[in-house]
Amino acid sequence: MAKRKTVYMCTTCGSSQPRWVGKCPDCGAWDALIEHKLDTAADPQKGLVEGWVDTIHGVPKAAPIDEVAPDPAASARLATGIGEFDRVLGGTPETGRGLVPGSAVLIGGEPGIGKSTLLLQAAAGWASAIDPKKGPNWSRKVLYVTSEESAEQVQQRAARLGIAGEPNLFVLADTNLARIIEQVRTVKPAVLIVDSVQMVYKADLDAAPGTITQLRRCAAELVYLAKASGTAVLLVGHVTKDGQIAGPRVLEHLVDAVLYFEGDRFHAGRIVRAIKNRYGTTLELGIFEMGGHGLTPVAGGGGASFDDGEPNPGSVVCPVMHGSRCVLVEVQALTATGFLGAAKRKSSGLDTSRLAMLIAVLEQHAGLRLADRDIFASAVGGIRVVEPASDLALLLAIAGAHYKRAIGPRTVVIGEVGLGGEVRPVAQLEQRLREAARLGAKRAVVPSARGNRPKIIGLELVAVQNVGGAIELLG
Ligand code: TYD
Ligand code: MG
Repeated sequence: MAKRKTVYMCTTCGSSQPRWVGKCPDCGAWDALIEHKLDTAADPQKGLVEGWVDTIHGVPKAAPIDEVAPDPAASARLATGIGEFDRVLGGTPETGRGLVPGSAVLIGGEPGIGKSTLLLQAAAGWASAIDPKKGPNWSRKVLYVTSEESAEQVQQRAARLGIAGEPNLFVLADTNLARIIEQVRTVKPAVLIVDSVQMVYKADLDAAPGTITQLRRCAAELVYLAKASGTAVLLVGHVTKDGQIAGPRVLEHLVDAVLYFEGDRFHAGRIVRAIKNRYGTTLELGIFEMGGHGLTPVAGGGGASFDDGEPNPGSVVCPVMHGSRCVLVEVQALTATGFLGAAKRKSSGLDTSRLAMLIAVLEQHAGLRLADRDIFASAVGGIRVVEPASDLALLLAIAGAHYKRAIGPRTVVIGEVGLGGEVRPVAQLEQRLREAARLGAKRAVVPSARGNRPKIIGLELVAVQNVGGAIELLG
C-alpha cells in the first residue's frame, strides 16, 4: 500500500511546502497554496515507460570529464526545413540545426497564438525530411497527439496547410497518458508532439486532470520517455498573458529547452524565442507571419524598413542583434504634458529601468526638462529590445519627440549611453552596419570610440562622443 503524504503546492510557481502559509516563500504569491495528496511510492522512474524501453542506462559512475563519450544524438539534429524554427532549436550551420533526438522541449504561448499550427507544420517538416546519410528511402515517423482537438480537426487543418498527404505523420486524439505511451510503443516515432500537455492525465493519480500534480507527473513521464527511448518529445503548454497561472512554468526545469511563442493575436507577426536551451543559444529568434495558409517564415527579420517619406520626430531606427542575426527595430517615443511629481513613464517592448535612466541622463547632461512630461516609448513590431546598444536610439527618440525634431532620413543610430552622458562602443558594430546598409540605410550614428571603424560602401558614418553631440544631429 502506497504511503500518502499531504503537501501544499503553489499554483503560481509550483513549489511544494510542508504546511499551508498565506504567502508562498519561494515566489511571494499570496493565497496561492493548495492542498495535494502525494503518493510517496510514486517515482517517475517506475512509471509507465519502464518495462518496454531497452535503452535504460546502467548505474551511473563518476568519470574524468575527458573520458565522457560525446553524445552522438546531439550532433544528429532533426531539421524541419523551416529555417526560422530550426535556428531557435539550436545548432550551427556546420553541425546542422534542429531538434536533438531524445530531447524534451516545452513550447509555451497564449491560447490562440498559433502553437498547434506551428507544430503541425513542423511535424510535417520532420516527417518529410530525408536524411541524406540514410538514403532517399529513409524517413521519419512523427506522432502528433492532440488532447484538445479531434483527429478530424487536425486532419482538416493539415489539409488547409497543404500537408495532409504526409504518410509518416501520425495523428492520435487521446488524453490518457497510458494509452498515449502505448501508441508511442507501437508507432516508434522519432518525434512525439503532445498538444497540449495540460489536458493529458494519468489515471492512477488522485488529482483531477489539469492540476499541477497531474501536469508534473505526466510531463515527468514524457521527459523520461524521451531520455529512455530516444524519441524527441515536444510538450505544448498554454500560458496566460502574465505567465502567472499554474501551468507550464512549473515544467521549465524538467525539460531541455523551453521555447515561447509570442505575438499579438491582432497582428500577423509571431516570434518564437528560446528561454532555456541545453543544446543551443537562447539568443536566437524565429520570426513568422500568420496568414491564410498557416505560418510563413519571415527570413529578412520583419523589422523596420526605410521609406522616402518625411522623417518622423520621436522615431529612430536601431539595428539590434538577436543571436546571430541583426534586426532593424524602430524605437518610438512620445512626450505629453503631465503633472510634476506624477509624470507617467511607460514603455512597451523596452526595458523600463533603462528608460528611466535615459530620461535622467537627458535631464542632467543635455538640459532637457522632462520632470512634468509624460513619456511613452515603444519598440515597434512586437520585438522586445533589451540591448544597451539601443540606448542612443531611444534617447534620440525621446529628445526628438520633445523638441519635435527628427533625425535625418535613412539613418540608423547605434550606441550605449553611460551615466556620464558619454556614448559607449557596442559589440558587433560591423555586422549591424552591414545589415543596415543592406536594408537601405544611408547614414549611421555610431559611438566615436578609438579603433577601427568599419567602412561600408554607401553608408556615411557620423561619430558622436556624448549625448549632447548626438542631440545636435536632430534637424
Ligand atoms: P492555433 O494554432 O490553434 O493556436 P494555439 O494552438 O496556440 O491555441 O491557431 C490559432 C489561430 O490561428 C486561429 O484562431 C486561427 C489562426 N490561423 C490562421 O490565421 N491561419 C491558419 O492557416 C491557421 C491554421 C490558423
Ligand atoms: Mg492549440
